[in-house]
Amino acid sequence: MPSSPHRRRLLLLPLLVAAAALWGPLPAGAGAATCKVWLVQSIPTDMPRLRRVPGVLSTGDVLQWLSGNATKSLDILAQYWQFLAQPNNPKSGDYGYSDSDMKRFGADEGHRVYKALENAADRFAPDFDQESADLAAGRPNVQNVTLLFEKWWGSGVVHAKVGISDKKDVYIGSANNDWKSLTQVKELGIYFADCPQIAKTVEVYFQNLWSLSALNSTTYTKVAWDKPWQVSRKVPCWSHFLQPKERCRSPIPPSVDIPYTDGYPSLSNPEMIDVPFETPGYKKSTQEHYLSYLSFAPPEVTFGKFQADEQGWVDTIKSVKVGGIVVFSKNATVRLIVAYWTHFIPNTENYLKSLLYSNIVCASSKYNHCGGKVEIKYYMVPGYNETGPALSQGGAATGNRYPGFTRVDHGKYAVCDVRANIGTSNLIWDYFYTTAGASFGTYSPSTVSQLQDIFDADWYSPYTVPVEPLEASS
Ligand SMILES: *[C@@H]1O[C@H](CO)[C@@H](O)[C@H](O)[C@H]1NC(C)=O
Ligand SMILES: *[C@@H]1O[C@H](CO)[C@@H](O)[C@H](O)[C@H]1NC(C)=O
Ligand SMILES: *[C@@H]1O[C@H](CO)[C@@H](O)[C@H](O)[C@H]1NC(C)=O
Ligand SMILES: *[C@@H]1O[C@H](CO)[C@@H](O)[C@H](O)[C@H]1NC(C)=O
Ligand SMILES: *[C@@H]1O[C@H](CO)[C@@H](O)[C@H](O)[C@H]1NC(C)=O
Repeated sequence: MPSSPHRRRLLLLPLLVAAAALWGPLPAGAGAATCKVWLVQSIPTDMPRLRRVPGVLSTGDVLQWLSGNATKSLDILAQYWQFLAQPNNPKSGDYGYSDSDMKRFGADEGHRVYKALENAADRFAPDFDQESADLAAGRPNVQNVTLLFEKWWGSGVVHAKVGISDKKDVYIGSANNDWKSLTQVKELGIYFADCPQIAKTVEVYFQNLWSLSALNSTTYTKVAWDKPWQVSRKVPCWSHFLQPKERCRSPIPPSVDIPYTDGYPSLSNPEMIDVPFETPGYKKSTQEHYLSYLSFAPPEVTFGKFQADEQGWVDTIKSVKVGGIVVFSKNATVRLIVAYWTHFIPNTENYLKSLLYSNIVCASSKYNHCGGKVEIKYYMVPGYNETGPALSQGGAATGNRYPGFTRVDHGKYAVCDVRANIGTSNLIWDYFYTTAGASFGTYSPSTVSQLQDIFDADWYSPYTVPVEPLEASS
């Protein structure tokens, strides 16, 4: 990024990437402190019967701290911005709720995060869709650009939620940049404080997305046959979904030559990060030395240096130690929590039931040794079926009790006995191949145990209900 050391820039990508980057010299001695890692949650209001896991931070606090602690730089990658509730906007899912409703929903928390961002922007001298543009407007060292994933991958959005402050503090998780993600949606993430090594890796990804926004997508895209998914689709011209002779040279460094492999292979030896870190929220004194990794989507943006996000997930599932593919060969119990909400896709139920049917199929032959099993529950945040604006555009009461797009379990994580993966992507193939996403994964036993505890609190809460299996025929 060509900039003189004292000129700071606030860079914004409001539509699909919203990014704020204020550049300046890093404080001397950065990196001397020990890297500290906390799990981060948002728990919707009105869920008194969910057991709280001690030592887990709240998303609202962490987002305020990222801004509050930023003295030199703040990079934020987000799909959209809406920290301020819009009860007076008829087009908003917040429409028609009263001030006291908004207080009860915890909208103040969003306001506090917005203020913290605004203060950070003011500290850096200058000012973030409408919010990003407002933060940008009238501040001379603010620039905003928009990266349209649709032009590069045919569809998709910047779905990664990543914040980096002063090139050392980082948040990665499921929370969107809006007030509802703080107090009305169940979210899970991870916060790193004083971890320049983690921040540096995430910056590489951020810079790569940034580079794309400056390129002409028409010149740099081709249509490829995606064999694993059996579809033709638009991809960047350096994609490994193209035959080697059809590929262009990647404008994103570094690129490695790998033979044509029908798409993106999993790396047999993905880059691991060997950063010792403390987990003050779990075991206060111990400094742990276990391998961790970062993975990113879509693979064209970082592949060659970092594993694709899909591999982060798949390897986590395969890493189950119990008993040598997973459920039955390892005698493991696999538990899935699936969000059930207003925007639930009805077909999902049939897929889940067929997955449960594998329990029956395995047991159907006396030659199978079926130790393991699959269990699935729906997560129903109370009020999930009563969301939307309080008033219709015509002004009539709708009977909704909570704003639109709320009361849902939105966390994206997996945990097994030895490894945890905390990500931003929904578990649908296009999220790994056409959508920006990132995961942090680790073998750190503290993080693994605490994440398991969060999962168990949900699993055994009254808010999750078992998906009923299909009856065994015959
Ligand atoms: C800076 O971050 C720490 C945790 O890493 C937090 O305790 C502190 O309150 C933050 N400071 C500000 C000004 O936000
Ligand atoms: C950047 O923000 C300004 C308002 O400050 C807005 O008019 C403009 O459309 C935005 N540009 C992009 C590329 O999003
Ligand atoms: C991008 O490239 C195409 C063809 O190479 C050209 O027609 C188009 O004008 C370019 N767009 C921009 C914004 O430069
Ligand atoms: C599978 O695990 C169950 C309970 O953990 C155990 O009772 C059973 O013996 C195991 N079966 C095999 C084949 O290892
Ligand atoms: C929403 O679900 C709850 C609990 O299942 C039920 O009592 C309530 O009547 C439902 N509300 C609507 C509007 O369907």
